[in-house]
Amino acid sequence: MTIAQLTAGYKKTNSRRVFAIAASATLLCVIYLLRLSHLGIATSGSSDHSLYSPVVESHAVKPDVTNDVYNKTLGFEKIFVISLPERSDRRDSIILSAALSNIDIEIRDAVRGENVPEQIIPNENAGRFMKAEVGCWRSHMNIMQEVIQRNLSSILILEDDADWDIRIMDQLHDFALAAQAITQPLLRVYPAGNLFQSRTKNDIPFEKLPQTVSPEHSPYGDNWDLLWLGHCGVAVPKPTGDRSTGRVVMLDDPTVPVKKSLSNNLVGNDLGEYPDHTRLVHHATMGLCTQSYAITQAGARELMMSVGVEKMNTIDFGLREWCDGTSGRDPHLCLATQPAVFQPHRKAGPQKGDSDIDTAAHGDGVRKEAMTEVVRWSTILNWKALLRGERDFVDQYPDS
Ligand SMILES: *[C@@H]1O[C@H](CO)[C@@H](O)[C@H](O)[C@H]1NC(C)=O
Ligand SMILES: *[C@@H]1O[C@H](CO)[C@@H](O)[C@H](O)[C@H]1NC(C)=O
Repeated sequence: MTIAQLTAGYKKTNSRRVFAIAASATLLCVIYLLRLSHLGIATSGSSDHSLYSPVVESHAVKPDVTNDVYNKTLGFEKIFVISLPERSDRRDSIILSAALSNIDIEIRDAVRGENVPEQIIPNENAGRFMKAEVGCWRSHMNIMQEVIQRNLSSILILEDDADWDIRIMDQLHDFALAAQAITQPLLRVYPAGNLFQSRTKNDIPFEKLPQTVSPEHSPYGDNWDLLWLGHCGVAVPKPTGDRSTGRVVMLDDPTVPVKKSLSNNLVGNDLGEYPDHTRLVHHATMGLCTQSYAITQAGARELMMSVGVEKMNTIDFGLREWCDGTSGRDPHLCLATQPAVFQPHRKAGPQKGDSDIDTAAHGDGVRKEAMTEVVRWSTILNWKALLRGERDFVDQYPDS
């Protein structure tokens, strides 16, 4: 049984239910046709900004790659998991979760900081980084090496303790539609004005996304560098900056816990002004933590040049500077969702096992129950139900 079939049994009252069903193979074609007719077909491309011109063309078009979100690599070419070889506990866990989610992952060995000679670090004050931070940076750069060498079009990177909602494919499908709306060339003038130039707060309701040219290569659009999908904080750009403050607003997302359960993910406090169960998709600034992100071939090359070769930083601050165009780096097209869709799972037991980077940071406490922040229908906490085909899923953050 696929996630989508499981999810299809869940009562969703909004339009996203359509997309949950779309994944079940039998209906896929029907929905696809509906979607094409709904969107219209690109006639004269991005330069066509005449107001609501009728759509006349109906010649053959390429299949909409948006539905590739439902493939075994979530619409990316590969999914890599970074993991220290001896963390067999985490490897066991993520391999099982991926199998139960119908996702293909490939594990790549993380690098131990002790094994990274100081002289390879491209930074005059290299000594200020902890060994583990150096190892983490190197682990991510080794992935970039592989992406560049194999010319992979896009990849998703997960850290080995990642957990996700069993409805991840539906979440990413919605994210993909939102990402397209923000970054693909517009087919028509959108009532809210030009999304790329807007300097003021600009809510784009998910139910009324602007029509765009369909992407040809990636379900997430053909223009992005990085998708920050697992983070411990990210913010909508400030109106004073050089990028759009436009954000797609998804109300009543059943996978989003009420705001008071979101402490860890409200760093920018952008969700604070929206009702409970709201999800936002927007240009990413001030990102933190690298639980999961996706990067394109072009992005990997740029990142290698900037954070790999020119100037090292810890990988999360490196990515932040690289996205935001700070610390002398060029800015890049990075998108994020709040709250994040990938989160670190926390096992029951001693908290110092939480991080391979800084064991002291997580304290000496003992956690009584396993948990994953933000993720409502945690895959890990629902293994048993998934294995047995049951549908009474554990919801970590029920409303009451
Ligand atoms: C999933 O879709 C992406 C984007 O179209 C593609 O690059 C990738 O090869 C597909 N993965 C599989 C397993 O078919
Ligand atoms: C990498 O892939 C792109 C897109 O498929 C292609 O145009 C390019 O020639 C490839 N580069 C190499 C070095 O194979």
